[in-house]
Amino acid sequence: MTALRITEVAVTGFRNLRTVRAFPDPRANVLVGANGQGKTSLLEAVDYAATLRSFRGATRAQLVGHEAPEAQLLVRVESAISGHEYRIKLSRTARDITLDGKRPERAIEYFGNAACVVFQPGDLDLIRGAPETRRRLLDRMLMRTVEGYGEALKNYGKALRARNQLLRERSPNLNAIAAFDLPLARYGSGIIRARERVVSELLGAARQALDEVALTDDAITLAYRPRGSGDTLAFSAALAEAHRVDLARKTTTLGPHGDDLLIAWGGRAARNVASQGQTRALALALRLAELHILEARTRTVPVLLLDDVSSELDRTRTERLFALVGRLGAQVWVTTTDPAIAALVPHARVFAVDAGQLSVAVK
Ligand SMILES: Nc1ncnc2c1ncn2[C@@H]1O[C@H](COP(=O)(O)OP(=O)(O)OP(=O)(O)O)[C@@H](O)[C@H]1O
Ligand SMILES: [Mg+2]
Repeated sequence: MTALRITEVAVTGFRNLRTVRAFPDPRANVLVGANGQGKTSLLEAVDYAATLRSFRGATRAQLVGHEAPEAQLLVRVESAISGHEYRIKLSRTARDITLDGKRPERAIEYFGNAACVVFQPGDLDLIRGAPETRRRLLDRMLMRTVEGYGEALKNYGKALRARNQLLRERSPNLNAIAAFDLPLARYGSGIIRARERVVSELLGAARQALDEVALTDDAITLAYRPRGSGDTLAFSAALAEAHRVDLARKTTTLGPHGDDLLIAWGGRAARNVASQGQTRALALALRLAELHILEARTRTVPVLLLDDVSSELDRTRTERLFALVGRLGAQVWVTTTDPAIAALVPHARVFAVDAGQLSVAVK
């Protein structure tokens, strides 16, 4: 098994980061700084290069520095078998991406080569938030490991928006609506089948992860609830049958845009029974499970970005987590406001983040 390592990060004009360049340690890196200095922004920049999305759900305009004409990112990654250079230019209106100096032609080529797993305070929403957050967890894994998945999601979204638009018209054209049933079913059933498979892998991985960090005996169970069928023809027939309901509601009621992943803990809905700390542990277990799945599917250990994790967990769990991370073999990035945390992370290179600038700190 080989592990992905970020060997260089250079960022200009992204959020509050001015011109920042870092040569991270292959094993562990800690970003220390007071609130609002740019720690999360740096992790966001790294993950953006890998996913072309902000893990804080920000738009391009929000990511470009207020005073900057554009943002520039450079991320170099290496594993035992390959090395890649990602360069991204972001303006408020456009995005320019190159992988190894060329515009990537296929999505899987881009997304498949730089996997990061992020754990951040907002991840409590994995347990407590809307289904969309959980769908995004599944999609993150699938975009990187299933050829054509990203395309299918995009095409599904396009067909869905077009169909919904027709449903909202004053006197809807039933034939035009029905013409979208088969394409929606084709893309949608593929999405559902891929999600079904990944959820079954996720369960085993989440159980293991929970065991490793959370110090709890209660069992986690996951149940995927697709709002549609993995069988294209059955799905298409169900869409046809739903025409009347869809017309009444002016929206497409069936399809993977309504999927959910039910998370139970000790036999009950986790959102209702888990304490604040337990909710964090569950969310963390799901992220570690994401890492295990990417590792198993790509034969490469992804980079692990832990935003503010120590304020999320108590001391014992924090120590266990860092010890576990050491064993995983992943390159890890940790942000914290507490310099003492750096001492808990084995082999860490410590960076100080101050007003959008970065410097190597003495541990
Ligand atoms: N587009 C932008 N341009 C300039 N500054 C921005 C932009 N977006 C956010 N900021 C500012 O960047 C600063 C750094 O934010 P960031 O979330 O990275 O801080 P942090 O170091 O993680 O802090 P905390 O410890 O509170 O989590 C904040 O002051 C924020 O207001
Ligand atoms: Mg932060």
